[in-house]
Amino acid sequence: MFHNIPENVKQRMEDLEDMDSKDRIDGTPRLKRLRQIPPETGKFISILAASAPKGEFIEIGTSAGYSTLWIALTCKLIGSKVTTFEILQEKINKAKITFRQTNMEGYVELIEGDARDYLIDIKNISFCFLDAEKEVYEECYDLVIPNMVKGGLLIADNAINHYETLKPMIDKALSDQRLDALVVPIGKGELLCRKL
Ligand SMILES: C[S@@+](CC[C@H](N)C(=O)[O-])C[C@H]1O[C@@H](n2cnc3c(N)ncnc32)[C@H](O)[C@@H]1O
Repeated sequence: MFHNIPENVKQRMEDLEDMDSKDRIDGTPRLKRLRQIPPETGKFISILAASAPKGEFIEIGTSAGYSTLWIALTCKLIGSKVTTFEILQEKINKAKITFRQTNMEGYVELIEGDARDYLIDIKNISFCFLDAEKEVYEECYDLVIPNMVKGGLLIADNAINHYETLKPMIDKALSDQRLDALVVPIGKGELLCRKL
């Protein structure tokens, strides 16, 4: 998967990494920043997606599609598709460019809107990457977990760098009898849950 990333995907990933680094230092307002995962988290979710059971792949929080590209690499490998949700028009426009430029449109469905309006209807979820505003994490968790297949994986970003804000949801996951969970110290900290 990582040894033969197509040149146009590599190029867009590098461009988005540059934009994201610039955003973080040039005073770009928070809502306009891409706020992407680092590459090591991208590889981590890509491998986890490849290890997920059969079912629906979803992502909550597309931004410009950087993390989606890592999941889409898996979808290309196994012949599946990821449904990704983004609420902000400016990010949606950038994500569309990302998927078009990389010829990944066949592996990604971009839903424009608030993920919470759709999640209740998505059954048989086998992989979910949650990376939205921290205030909506717990609501998304409550909507996604009941709809996950046995062995399904949910990964939530920012479990270490936003630990205090996310603590109620992290504690809930760690004691949730429906799953096994732990926090993995990679990137900004990933809460990893596996449905029992
Ligand atoms: C941290 S960024 C995502 C970064 C992206 N996962 C990446 O690594 O490339 C969070 C994104 O989630 C979007 N978002 C926040 N709340 C949302 C919601 N309820 N539904 C859909 N998108 C949401 C924001 O507009 C923002 O673009």
